Amino acid sequence: MIQKNISIIVAIAENFAIGKNNDLLFHLPNDLKHFKEITSGHTIIMGRNTLLSLPKWPLPNRRHIVITDKKDDVFAGCETVFSIDEAIEKVKNEDEAFIIGGGMIYKQFFPIAGKLYLTLVHKPFDADVFFPEIHYSEWKEISRKDFKDEKNGFEYSYLNLERK
Ligand SMILES: NC(=O)c1ccc[n+]([C@@H]2O[C@H](COP(=O)([O-])OP(=O)(O)OC[C@H]3O[C@@H](n4cnc5c(N)ncnc54)[C@H](OP(=O)(O)O)[C@@H]3O)[C@@H](O)[C@H]2O)c1
Repeated sequence: MIQKNISIIVAIAENFAIGKNNDLLFHLPNDLKHFKEITSGHTIIMGRNTLLSLPKWPLPNRRHIVITDKKDDVFAGCETVFSIDEAIEKVKNEDEAFIIGGGMIYKQFFPIAGKLYLTLVHKPFDADVFFPEIHYSEWKEISRKDFKDEKNGFEYSYLNLERK
């Protein structure tokens, strides 16, 4: 069932690539600010690999929910859950909670998320983790802004979509 209060936020290359060697594919300082603006004050839900890929955690001013199968692991400042249903249950009274990755977690939440906040980098990247293919006919465009990164020259867009 579609969960209207669950949104996905993700940075995707042209070939749907999102990560390599448990790290991001590109460094876009504006996108980090954009991520902070959108997710601050909200719950962020992530897989264990994504948590471990962060330089440090918890990120300020956000409730962290980490999905893992490892019942004994404890992550400072984070709540752990052992299934996606348990994560959904934990945020059921919140207006909007964000799925922040990575590949395994996006794949499971993509069919049920109500909104997508995409950073689309208009260039392919070599990767070992990919986002599921997006069929744009199933989504309504809420907003789109196009940019060019001053430092590395990448063209990218912020695209906010809502499920039709
Ligand atoms: N471009 C972006 O916006 C973006 C955002 C976030 C991450 N990334 C990238 O994505 C990559 C990481 O993605 P990933 O697919 O390797 O890992 P992930 O989705 O972050 O985490 C996977 C782990 O989550 C746990 N898990 C997943 N589904 C579960 C379920 N149904 N029940 C219980 N536990 C579950 C398992 O943890 P246990 O092994 O502990 O059981 C699994 O190993 C990195 O390269 C990262 O940089 C990119």
